[in-house]
Formats: sequence, C-alpha cells, structure tokens
Amino acid sequence: MRAPSGKFLEPNAMTSPSASQKSLTLQQIFAPVADGLIGINDALRGIATLDYPIVKGSVEAIIAAGGKRLRPAILFLCANFHNYDLEKLVPMAAAIELLHTASLVHDDTIDNSLIRRGLPTLNSVMDEGTTVLVGDFLFAKSAVLSTMGGKMRATRIFAESLVTISEGEIEQKFSSHHMTATIDQYYKRIYSKTAVLFAAAGEIGAVVADAPEDEIERLRFYSKQLGMAFQVVDDILDVHSTAEQIGKPTGGDLRQGTMTLPTFLYMEKASPSEQADVERVIEGFDRSDAAVNAVLARINASDAVSRAAQVARTFVEEAKSAIASMPDVPARRSLLDLADFVIQREY
Ligand code: FPP
Ligand code: MG
Repeated sequence: MRAPSGKFLEPNAMTSPSASQKSLTLQQIFAPVADGLIGINDALRGIATLDYPIVKGSVEAIIAAGGKRLRPAILFLCANFHNYDLEKLVPMAAAIELLHTASLVHDDTIDNSLIRRGLPTLNSVMDEGTTVLVGDFLFAKSAVLSTMGGKMRATRIFAESLVTISEGEIEQKFSSHHMTATIDQYYKRIYSKTAVLFAAAGEIGAVVADAPEDEIERLRFYSKQLGMAFQVVDDILDVHSTAEQIGKPTGGDLRQGTMTLPTFLYMEKASPSEQADVERVIEGFDRSDAAVNAVLARINASDAVSRAAQVARTFVEEAKSAIASMPDVPARRSLLDLADFVIQREY
C-alpha cells in the first residue's frame, strides 16, 4: 500500500486568502475564547464523579485525553459577536463536549473499537454492559448541563440534536454491509452523526448570546458546513493516513462495512472486478487485512481522495461565505481560520 502522506490537500489547491497563513495551531485559532475553554476543562473534571474502581480512572482519562475541543470552541466563538455571560456559556459548551464524548463511548462499544485518541477505549477495559451504563451516565450529566444556559431554546436545540444523532446511528447500523447506499444517503448520515452537533454548538452559542435571528441562522449554517467538511476529512483520513496520525486504526470504515465518500467516488470509476473486491469487503465476505489493504491501496492510487478533498473544500467555502459579511471581530477571523484548519488537518 502506498505510504499515506496525509497531505491530500496541497497548497496549490487552496483558493482562500487565509490559506497562505498555513499551520496556525488550534491554540492560536482559539485564543479569543481561551478563558471559556479553560472553564469547560474544569466543568468536565467535576463530572467524573463515578467513584468505582476502574470506572473512575477510565472516565477521568477519557475526559483528560480530550479531543480537539472543536465543538465547545465553536460555541464560544459564535457567542463572541455579542456580550455574553461566560457562566451560562460554559455549562452549555461542556454539555456539547460531554454529549460528544458519551456518544463515542457508545460508538466504540457498538463498533468494538479498542483504541481512541491513542488510548484504550472504555469497552476495552470493562465489560459491554458496564461501558453502556457509563456512557448513559455521561449522557445524563450532559443533559443536566444543557439546562444551565438559562434558555429553553438552547436546551431544545441540544435535545433535538441528540434525537438526530441517535437516528443517524440507527440508520448507519442498518445500512452497513449493504452496497445499496447512495452518496445522498451518505451526506444525510454524516449530517446526523457529526454536522448536527457542530450546528447545534454554533446555534446555541449565538442563542445564549442573544444574537439576532439572521446571525443565528448564519452561524448555524457556518457550523453545519464546517461539520460536514470535518466528517468528509475524517473519512478521507480513515483511508489515507497512518494509525499514529489519527490515534485509531485506519481502514476502520471498510472493515465495519461502512461506505464513505472516498469509497463511493472510487467505485464510480472502478472496473467491475475492482468493484467486486470492494463489495466483498463492505458486505463482510472478506474482512482480512489483505483484502482491506488491497482496497485501501486502490482507493489511494485513484483520484477518489483528491475528489473527496474537493468536496470538503466546497463545504468549507460555503461555511466561510456564510459569515463573510458579519462584523470583523477577532472571533470571525478565528472561525475563518478554523475552517481552513479543518481541511488541512492530519489528525
Ligand atoms: C463516530 O462514528 C460516531 C459518532 C460521531 C456518533 C455516535 C452516536 C451514537 C453511538 C449514538 C449515541 C446515542 C445517543 C443517545 C446520542 P464512526 O464510528 O464512524 O467514527 P470513529 O471511526 O471515530 O469511531
Ligand atoms: Mg466508531
């Protein structure tokens, strides 16, 4: 298999002015909301109160390992166009992050994944039933936090997103191992599993900061398109990176029988025998490393990855356009830089 470089997005393919200022770190991008992000770390630490052997340490570790904190940062940045009360925003941002963490606990159990963020998953160190209960506990805590923004509307956005995520996961479960799915179903699925929570983060930030309706709408749209781009890139990284880069094994989607954009695009131009090889893997008839690696190599040798990257860039450009005419506050610059970061990331 060709050694993946992760660099599916070459600089000459960029079109935006801020693309030239490559390599901003997330810490730099999130500078305008650094105080909020410190606040949610404290709030999340206060959540890991399950005082049982193994469970306590494991929950603390999963929270401490954190992720990129993209969703809470989006929430804070979208609130930043107006005056806001940090005491109300912090629990909302912590709720979104905890919901995300809890859904990953359940997801890893469903997918039987043993490594996440470079660490052993909860389901790899405790039995399935206990893991599900710990996930439920984290969901319950996130629901309580979601009531603390002082806005019923924000709590409703949170709850409705939870419904969409659950529906998406059920849909994915029933569509996996089938070749009948379409690219449109794929976009619907990645909205449900990822973009809806990004959208909720942006909308909740704007709602809690009392932004006018047209701004709320723009910021939700920005965040949704960013989430779509993020998931497309995630799906590219799954076929086009190393396990070290992404903190989990590559080729996971193929092994789980899940069709993602690079595979759909590869199939469009593949020969009948190449298509049959993909079908055998997706439908679960051959999930050997040799079969998965052969398909991965062919996808990487085709133009599917660069075409998928073009789709991600289009989502990002749509996100950036939505906030182009908004006031030129530091948070807007950060949102634009974050959009560029999402398509340049290698992890
Ligand atoms: C990761 O997908 C999974 C998600 C982003 C969502 C998972 C959601 C659930 C399990 C439903 C949770 C339940 C409620 C009540 C919200 P992936 O497996 O494609 O990504 P991965 O490779 O990172 O595991
Ligand atoms: Mg998974």
